[in-house]
Amino acid sequence: MEGSGVIQRYRDFLPITDATPIISLNEGSTPLIEAPNIVQALSGDFRLFVKYEGLNPTASFKDRGMTLAVSKAAEQGVRTIVCASTGNTSASAAAYAARAGMTCVVLIPKGKIAYGKMAQALIHGARTLEVRGNFDDVLELVKELGKRDDIEVVNSINQFRIQGQKTAAFEVCDALGDAPDMHFLPVGNAGNITSYWMGYNEYREAGESSKLPRMMGWQAEGAAPIVRGEVVQAPETVATAIRIGNPASWKQAVEAAEASFGAIDTVSDDEILDAQRMLARSEGIFVEPASAAGIAGIVKSHAGGDIVEGSTVVVTVTGHGLKDPEIAIDNAKAQSMVVDANFEVVLAATGL
Ligand code: F0G
Repeated sequence: MEGSGVIQRYRDFLPITDATPIISLNEGSTPLIEAPNIVQALSGDFRLFVKYEGLNPTASFKDRGMTLAVSKAAEQGVRTIVCASTGNTSASAAAYAARAGMTCVVLIPKGKIAYGKMAQALIHGARTLEVRGNFDDVLELVKELGKRDDIEVVNSINQFRIQGQKTAAFEVCDALGDAPDMHFLPVGNAGNITSYWMGYNEYREAGESSKLPRMMGWQAEGAAPIVRGEVVQAPETVATAIRIGNPASWKQAVEAAEASFGAIDTVSDDEILDAQRMLARSEGIFVEPASAAGIAGIVKSHAGGDIVEGSTVVVTVTGHGLKDPEIAIDNAKAQSMVVDANFEVVLAATGL
């Protein structure tokens, strides 16, 4: 039983042969949820849809690319995969390696990945190295390791990752009946914006959609090399997933923004945290801080008059909020109350 993951569903668009063993956890098919309350709060006149990628098997969009990268590694007879990660790639690699019976080694920046992501790498049995350095340092080390023939790097420098992730654009078009007018998403290592742009183009060329969206990518202010036009040596942001100063797919991201008449811009940590709270409170959708960068981008673009009236807007929220419970509890700006098991006390405390 091969399951119903993105390789099965979109195999005609993917570099798969009959010889490719399919390593899948039934990733993809994530919901595209309309978010009218946010539009109303902004007094906007557009339709907003949230692509909830936190509902993938390891709770981020990385699984779409990982199923393909690990399947192709298996086809080539490779038994060991490695990656550098701010936490989600490593969680996904660890899970798919477990599924494939492969060895997985993950390198993460020490002290800078969310708690839930660390739990995932460890519980799936990945050899987990916390490196004293940032993501960019770690990626360089992984590239060195990747020179060995018996090791496959499963970062997005691996083209199969990009190929797999493009399936999210297909799903958006399938759900809406066409491509949206604008597509918002966070940008870190810049693989995902590259993937979506590839997916939207391929779907249009195949006659499955009629237009291309403006690609709107968002970096955190303290980790915005693409916007600043230079490598950021010491990136900092509350959104640890996108705490990256030298993105691997920099050039492709700029191309996507330019060719689509879109943009790559910044949002502040405060804007990111406000957006995380707003999405959770007004739409019931819980995402990690990096994912909220796209929502913050919508708020900013709308304020700047960039969203055309009547347009259809999609935002990818890339990872589940439960990945980073510590930030969420802090950002909730609310506290639980401890009460005795006494009805009068409880009733008073409910505030009802
Ligand atoms: N959102 C989340 C939740 C991420 O984990 C990442 C990247 C991004 C957005 C940015 O996507 O890199 O394709 O531009 N996380 C990588 C990782 C770097 O190691 O998990 P990108």
